[in-house]
Amino acid sequence: MIRFPLLLLSLLGLWAGGVFAQQLLDWTPEEIRTVEKHGPWPPSPVRDPSNKVSGTPAGILLGEHLFNDPRLSGDGRVSCATCHQAGREWSDGLARARGTVELDRRTPSLWNIGYLHWFGWDGAGDSLWAQSIRPLLDPREMNGGPARAAELLRGDAALACGYEKAFGSAPGTDDERLLVDTAKALAAFEATLVSPRTPFDDFRDALVAGNREGASRYPLAAQRGLKLFIGDANCNLCHLGPRFTSGEFGDIGIPFFVRPGEVDPGRLGGLGRLAASPFNLLGKYNDDATGNNTRRTRHVQRQHTNFGEFRVPGLRQVGRSGPYMHNGSLATLEDVVRHYSEVSPDRLHSDGIPLVRPLGLTAEQSADLVAFLRSLDAEPLARPRPAPLCP
Ligand code: HEC
Ligand code: HEC
Repeated sequence: MIRFPLLLLSLLGLWAGGVFAQQLLDWTPEEIRTVEKHGPWPPSPVRDPSNKVSGTPAGILLGEHLFNDPRLSGDGRVSCATCHQAGREWSDGLARARGTVELDRRTPSLWNIGYLHWFGWDGAGDSLWAQSIRPLLDPREMNGGPARAAELLRGDAALACGYEKAFGSAPGTDDERLLVDTAKALAAFEATLVSPRTPFDDFRDALVAGNREGASRYPLAAQRGLKLFIGDANCNLCHLGPRFTSGEFGDIGIPFFVRPGEVDPGRLGGLGRLAASPFNLLGKYNDDATGNNTRRTRHVQRQHTNFGEFRVPGLRQVGRSGPYMHNGSLATLEDVVRHYSEVSPDRLHSDGIPLVRPLGLTAEQSADLVAFLRSLDAEPLARPRPAPLCP
């Protein structure tokens, strides 16, 4: 009778002093500062000055309706949501996107897309709205076009009314402008897609606040994986900041052959398309009269080292949005970590100092890195149906 409470007491002591303390690794002040830079989350909303309906409720609502509307496509069957599905982290779960034909690249997730400055795997877009025009025109994706978007906006009473609320006047007769406005509404909607808070965010906030008990709830494997991520494995050279991406481009040795004799030149090709596009920020559709937002586009230079470079993907929700890489060539996170562990230096085509080298990870280290990457996932809230455009 007496033994039981004693045992309980000593167990409680172990729990309070021992087990909890062991659940938190030692974090140096420098590590804590580095971890802090991967937050806070969620970030404040963004506005894109090149898009006059960015951040406006009427623009966002019109954009959400258009995003789900297959009538924007040539055969009336494909919408943006066909490939960017809300229930699949705004991607499609396929290694290569499928529109009218199979593409050579994977559909990227649209989470946190409004915070980037280059768009597409190869950076061919310098604004979210310009990037949103591409699938409308591409014969392999939606195969729509200016006339199709314009007729839809003019001909559908609800869309015409939504357009007038968003843009301040009824849809006019300039088809190309209506195509651009369609894309600007789409972009306003896309910029609202912010991924949910994750176990990593709770850990980061607790660690920074000095809340040991809160921080110790984060699994040890994830803690060890995070230490590798920001330490010896150097992942945060490119996957940095709250979204775990620099927003710039890198070469990590993913093969760039599309099929024998044909390569995907990555950013080298993207920069060529950017310069040739009538919809880039140097063109007449940029709504920012100050011109401040044209600096990147004016100064970017096409260099040989851009060959085989692809944009660094953000890593939030990454465990839920495979397969991975621009060509969907790696199926699981375990495969991705094995790639970084065993990558052949001969595969890296960039000149200069290589940022990626074979890490030679042990099985435990690889599992820890995966555990950390999975802590960047959370179940998103279900999306309610959008409100009607003009009730
Ligand atoms: C057939 C599938 C498919 C359809 C339909 C589609 N997309 Fe995509 N989307 C892709 C693929 C593939 C890419 C990668 C393009 C590239 O870089 O070459 C992409 C890239 C993007 C990006 C850039 C993402 C990033 O990480 O930079 C945005 C934004 C986007 N799509 C928006 C849209 C919008 C808006 C629509 C509808 C107008 C749409 N997409 C329709 C497959 C599709
Ligand atoms: C030199 C910059 C750089 C470094 C360092 C780097 N990455 Fe990457 N990472 C990239 C680029 C670029 C891609 C996309 C490559 C492609 O699609 O061809 C990528 C892709 C990924 C992906 C796939 C995401 C997706 O949506 O397809 C994961 C996961 C990932 N990296 C994790 C890591 C981890 C873990 C480390 C450290 C071991 C790391 N990265 C180090 C640049 C980097």
